[in-house]
Amino acid sequence: MERKKVEFRFLSEADMMKAGVLDVAHCVEVMDDTFKLLGTGDFVMGGYNQSSHGCMLWYPKQSPFPNMPLAGPDRRYMAMPAYIGGRYNCCGVKWYGSNVSNPKERGLPRSILLVGLNDPVTGEPLAIMSANLLSAMRTGSVPGVATKYLARKDAQSLGVIGCGVISRACARGILVNMPQAKRLYLYDIREESAKAFAEELAPEFPGLEMVICSDLKESVVDSDVISVAAAGPVPVVIDEAWLKPGCLFTATGHAEISDQCWQNNRVVFDYWPMHSVWYEEGRMHPDGIESTRDWAPSYQIFKLLQAGAVKEEDMISLSDVAVGKVAPRVSDEEKILFISGGLPVEDVSWGYTLYEEALKQGLGQELKLWDQAHWL
Ligand SMILES: NC(=O)c1ccc[n+]([C@@H]2O[C@H](COP(=O)([O-])OP(=O)(O)OC[C@H]3O[C@@H](n4cnc5c(N)ncnc54)[C@H](O)[C@@H]3O)[C@@H](O)[C@H]2O)c1
Repeated sequence: MERKKVEFRFLSEADMMKAGVLDVAHCVEVMDDTFKLLGTGDFVMGGYNQSSHGCMLWYPKQSPFPNMPLAGPDRRYMAMPAYIGGRYNCCGVKWYGSNVSNPKERGLPRSILLVGLNDPVTGEPLAIMSANLLSAMRTGSVPGVATKYLARKDAQSLGVIGCGVISRACARGILVNMPQAKRLYLYDIREESAKAFAEELAPEFPGLEMVICSDLKESVVDSDVISVAAAGPVPVVIDEAWLKPGCLFTATGHAEISDQCWQNNRVVFDYWPMHSVWYEEGRMHPDGIESTRDWAPSYQIFKLLQAGAVKEEDMISLSDVAVGKVAPRVSDEEKILFISGGLPVEDVSWGYTLYEEALKQGLGQELKLWDQAHWL
């Protein structure tokens, strides 16, 4: 057998931008397609139920070793493998590290991400790509898909809580499916972040009124769609009474809401079986499900599950809504709470779409693994 040369493509952030990573309407369309593939079962993720978010590497709270980093909010490493079928038919993995102190202390983003794509049959690498924008855009496009199915058709006002990297994409993703949007409420504990975000968005959305909020409540009470993606030690605590009838509340990051609110309203997950793995892993952790508190947007549901107040079989997934197995919004008055944990299939479908575009445009650098494998 003749030994085969293997090459793959490296795509920098600049290459990814040329390939269209920031094209939010396209990304929302690809995410919608991804949820339909999830709903039909044309995918594989890791773990015992093929639905795992990935494998997390946590640092300990204390350590006798001087170089060992210690635990902190949103501090982790994570590997997220998946296969997705349909027109993508690709395997891949996202690998990232997250440290909240990066932007202030090091001039780096909170998280630094790479995506690798592989041939699903042979394992040959196809690409290694800069994935900060890829990951932010796929993350923000998911509440955009949720808005398509779950928000009121006449939704006019959007409240954005936390004005960092992920919210930049969430706001744009949601606005793709809010054709009647008139007002944007922006709240961040660092008001300058909300102001900078408003300045960045204004030229893209000239008809949209921007309101910088001085408190959290102001960003919620008049909003038909609410998006939470905040990171740091101060939790986002939402009072059920602030939620307007008919609103869609989307949690991409952690938000604290009362048990009654979760129980009184319809809750839709991006893909419940993935959250179910987090729940099982949390139960096996020495700290129990408290170990998921800082990072899992479904942590409060885990508490209700453990207390027997809700049942796994009642959990609804957006993937089932997207393929018509579950009804979308049933009335203009119902409040819907959407929880997005993020799925590795989203990175692979968006990554593969951009890889194809990069090939068409001849972007990136071809790198060689070998001319012939040394050992066969
Ligand atoms: N579900 C997913 O698929 C997914 C994917 C990526 C990131 N995330 C989550 O999104 C969240 C945001 O990530 P990011 O990369 O945008 O972080 P970031 O550090 O870029 O931005 C976070 C912003 O939140 C603000 N903030 C912190 N606490 C706040 C509070 N109590 N109220 C209002 N604003 C507050 C900060 O000032 C900052 O501007 C993280 O929790 C992250 O884990 C989710």
